[in-house]
Order: sequence, then C-alpha cells, then structure tokens
Amino acid sequence: MVHPNNDIIPTVEGLAYGGDYNPEQWPREVWDEDVRLMREAGVNIVSVNIFAWARINPGPGEWDFEQLDAIMDLLADAGIKADLATSTASPPPWFSEAHPETLPVNAEGVRLNSGARAEYCPHAPAFRDAVVEMASRLAERYTGHPALAMWHVGNEYYRSCFCDFAADAFRAWLLERHGSLAGLNDAWGTVFWSQTYTAWSQVLPPRICAETPNPGLVLDWQRFSSDALLKLFRSEADAIAKYSSDKPITTNLMVTGDFSGIDYHRWGDHVTGPNRLVATDHYLIPEHDTDIEWPAQVAFGADASRGLAGGSPWLLMEQAANSSAWRRGYFAKKPGDQLRHSLSYVARGSEGAMYFQWRASRYGAERYHSAMLPHGGEDSKVFREVKEFGAQLKQIAEVKGSRVVARAAVLLDFESSWAAKTPGQPSADMATYPELRRWHAALWRRGVTTDIVNPAWDLSGYEFVFAPHLYLLDSDAHLRDYVEHGGTLVIGPYSGIVDRNDHVRPGLPGAIRDLIGVRVEEFVPIPEGETIALDDGTEGQTWSEAAHALDADVVASFTDYPSTGAIFHRHVGQGEVWYLATRPTDLNPLLDRLGISTDVPEGLELVRRRHEDGRSYLFAINHTEKPQQLQATGKDLLTGKPWTEASILEPGQGVVIRERSEAHKQ
Ligand code: GAL
Repeated sequence: MVHPNNDIIPTVEGLAYGGDYNPEQWPREVWDEDVRLMREAGVNIVSVNIFAWARINPGPGEWDFEQLDAIMDLLADAGIKADLATSTASPPPWFSEAHPETLPVNAEGVRLNSGARAEYCPHAPAFRDAVVEMASRLAERYTGHPALAMWHVGNEYYRSCFCDFAADAFRAWLLERHGSLAGLNDAWGTVFWSQTYTAWSQVLPPRICAETPNPGLVLDWQRFSSDALLKLFRSEADAIAKYSSDKPITTNLMVTGDFSGIDYHRWGDHVTGPNRLVATDHYLIPEHDTDIEWPAQVAFGADASRGLAGGSPWLLMEQAANSSAWRRGYFAKKPGDQLRHSLSYVARGSEGAMYFQWRASRYGAERYHSAMLPHGGEDSKVFREVKEFGAQLKQIAEVKGSRVVARAAVLLDFESSWAAKTPGQPSADMATYPELRRWHAALWRRGVTTDIVNPAWDLSGYEFVFAPHLYLLDSDAHLRDYVEHGGTLVIGPYSGIVDRNDHVRPGLPGAIRDLIGVRVEEFVPIPEGETIALDDGTEGQTWSEAAHALDADVVASFTDYPSTGAIFHRHVGQGEVWYLATRPTDLNPLLDRLGISTDVPEGLELVRRRHEDGRSYLFAINHTEKPQQLQATGKDLLTGKPWTEASILEPGQGVVIRERSEAHKQ
C-alpha cells in the first residue's frame, strides 16, 4: 500500500540539490571551502553522519557529539539543510569486538570479519538495541536544530545473515505465515525428498546444503529477509518519530537494483505518506554490461522509484557525477551527460538531484569514486556542470509538487521475480529483471512515459499495461478487471505458472489461462544464442511454449510448429489482452500492432509533469545528434525565452517548457 504525498520535502526551499557530505574526513579549514563552494553550486541540502558511528560513539557508553554539532551549526549558518543520517549502516570495529555475535554469517556458515562496512546481523539483539539507542539519541539531540530537514535511517539496506539468531527469527516468521508446522510442510511440499519437519528446531535458513534446496524455503527466506530489514528500518524510524514528528523520515532505497534483496512494494506503507519519503540511489551501468543506453537506464530508475511512490514525487538520493568506484573499470561521463541525466530524474518526478558524494575522498575504499567536487577541483568539467545544474534547478523550482503523467505501466512483482530465480527452473535465463528493463527501454525509445508498478495496485489510469514476466500470480482477478474496463494488457510467457507457495498449477498457464484463452501444453526453452522463427517474420528467444488457443485469435505461430500459436489476442469486456508464448527478440513489431506511435524520434525524451491546478510542464531532452522540433508552446524556464512551434531543440539540449494550454495529453 502506498500513500500519495505531493509535498515530500516541505522543509527544503525549492528542489533539493546536494549529496553525501563527510566533513569528518577533512580538516576544519576545508569545511569553510566546502560551504563556500556549495553555495556557489546552489547546494541546499546535504546528507551528513552517514558513516560516522565511530566518531559519535567511539566506545561502549561513550558519546561525543561535538563534531556533529559543529557540522550542523555550520550548515545552519550557511542556510544549507541537513538530511541527518543515523550512521547505523557501519558499526565500528570496537562494536564488533565487543559483540562478535553481531557480525554476519554467510550461507556457507562463515562469520564475516570487520574491516569494510555493513558488518551486522539484522537479527542480533545487541545490534538491534544499539541502532535504536543511536537513533533515539540523535533524534532527541537534533530534533529542533535549524539545519534539520529530514532523517536518513541507515544506508542502503541489503544485509542478510544465516546465523542462529536469524534461524530463530525465521522460525517465528514462518509460524506467523503458515500457522503451524503442518502448514509449513504443506506450503513447502516437504513430502518431496522426505524433507518433512517434525520439530521447529529442524527448520533452518537456506544454508549451503548437499543438493538443490527446497524452493519454498528459498522463497520464504527472501520474504523473511526483506521483512527483517523493514523491521530494522522501522525500529529506528519509530525511535526518531518519538522525538521528531514534523520532519520526513527516509532511507536510501535501491529500487532499481536487480530486485534481489528487498520487496520494496511491501515497504510502501512505511516509506510513503506524510513525513515519509521515497528516496532512491541510482548508479548507471556502463554500456559494456548492458545494451540499454544510459538515458533509458536513468528513466528506468526514475520510473521504478516513482512507481514505488505511487506516482507521487520522490527524491534521487544518490547518483554518481562520473565513475563509480565499485564498477569494473573506471569511466568518465561525456560532457553534458550529468546535466541531462539529472534533468531526466527531475522530469520523472524526483524533487531534486543528489549525489554520492560532495567532495571526493582522499582515502578509503571509494577514494576513486567520483564526486560533485572531484580531485581535479573547481576547474573541472564535473564541477562546472554541478554549478550549472544547481542554477537550472532554481529556474525550474516551480515544478516542485507536480506529478508525472504516465500513459503505460510495466508490472513488477518482487516476489514473482524471486520465485522465478528459485532453483530447479526449466531455464536459468527466464529472469524477470532484464526482461522488464528491455520492455521499459523499448517503450522509452518510443517516447512512452511508463510507471513501474505492482500488479495489485490501481491500474485503471493506464492505456497500456505490460506484464513481461509474472511467473508467480495468485489470481488474475485484478488484471481481468483492468482489461474488462477497457485496458490493453500484454502478458509475456511463463506467467501465472505458480501460486504464492511456488506450487505449479496444473492446467498451464494456471492463473491466466482463462483470461488469455490459451492452453500451454509444454515449455520449450531456447538455448542462448539461438532463436525461433514466427510466421509473421519475427523471432523469439530464450523461451517458447507449445500453446493452443482455447478462446483467442492466433496472431502468429511458430514456423516449425504451425499447429501451436506464438502470439495470441483476445477481447475481454471493453478491453483486450495479448499473450506471447515466447520472448520476442525485437519488441517493436508488437508495439506497432498495439498502435503505440513512433511520432517521437528515438532519443527525444519528452515527459510531462502537472500540478493539481492544471499548470503543466513539458521536459524535453534531445539525446540525439540532430536538432529536433517540438510540438509545444509556452516558456522555457531554463532560458526564460518563449518556446514556439518553430523553436529548435539542439543536440544534447534540455528544456522545461511551462505550457500555455492546460489541456495537454500525451
Ligand atoms: C552507494 C552507497 C554510498 C556509496 C556509493 C558509491 O551504494 O550508499 O555510500 O558507497 O554507493 O557508488
């Protein structure tokens, strides 16, 4: 459940601009230069105290807030706001030494050592107590501080642990979910391979074992681990809320990762609504890792974050100004990339743009990570662009609080993506994440603004809904309702196969069979590098199904198996549903069939944000190498000049047009 909220950072004037700020790494005189340059760059908020546990709590029972007080005062004097972190993501070595049982244990049973960060077990009582104490002390001390804009709990939750504390917590979670040991045995199908449990003590985390582990165990473990991190986040958030009830509380999520650790949609209740805010980190992957171009990657990150926020504004909490230290191979962004990317995040609903980090570190694991102020100093491409974007954000501040207008949705169900990765699948290549990105990118290339949302949420406002891979689906009722009321739904293969316990439904494809009017006889995976031909001239890859129409039109068939269909279409109520029995190598022919126009040249990014009172803004970014004309009239807030039908968007240029007419539709 998500709760709409258009005013996510009421305490920051205009759009947010800044980054992680770690002054504890620098001598005092550098702080003054920091503040001078921040002001020059238009920075109005920084995230502080993210990794400063060792500084403020240098030993058992020792507390020293002198330096943090000085940092907060410095910011307040400079008129810069603080996103104050609880510093709990990195317990210092003294803590791990005093409480060795809080160090995480991996699936092989190896207890990890201190020496990096995030070295904690989310279930260890000493750690849990310590983070609540830390959050309480900070909240009590800084609640009325003039620099305080919002609270930042932890940092990028992802840690899981396989220790005995985890095993106990897992059993309690399983009891609640399945009601009894008998319920658990039933849900996991433990009769298979004689895995039946007769006592809770026999139930273990999916530690490394002799052969393929029970998929039900693996799936429930992922659910449990996600819930455990939510519980940890909530314990700090609740502690803060006791002292500070008027400032937003957030954490930097990784909504755009490979969907592996957390079911962010289950976090919805706790990161949306009043005094909460969806904040995401997003780091681009260099082209050699993926064939999706950077602007489309930016759009994916933004659209998934906005989806999580239920369409409300959200905040880009971290991005890289240039290379990321953790990538294989250093890279530099091309001139202007940083400006275009940041503008695109804002176009797509972010209430500003923030970075990791303000000033590049001289030491530590991330000393070669890019920053707003690089090692190269002020006289650098990066810092010049940082200043330029700071000025741009001021010019477009009036977009704050407006919402993005999206025409389509791509469905993402974290549980389903986990279930599709459980062991023993017919094809290891039927992963959800790359397929969703592929569909999203294809829509991006056609200029379609797309929300990435949960299948159970309200879909009624979308003209098109794409479900590239919904392997786990309990019921088709919600999707059917969307279609019956006039929606167009496209469902990819290997969907609707299992229920919430990962039990295969006989009568494939189980949950969606009646909706699509198609029967699947068997799966025919396609080896990597090979394709399967369809009689409409297109091809499929990765997967195919021997599928037969029960009550659907066969739009295309596999040439080698003419008796079975490959693409199906069916009218349902006032809408229509398409089913694909393979993953098309090229998604464009299908988008053509759907009538999704190609009027917008590929690489011309157009996104609209609109206020409730009708004021409308067209963000246009020209990622192409050719000048482009826009069908828009109004005023470009970035240049302050009128925009007419004859105006030209130069290659690489971005504009934000306050539109003259209020009746724009995409
Ligand atoms: C993020 C993390 C930051 C920093 C950054 C580098 O994942 O939150 O602390 O490590 O990556 O890209």
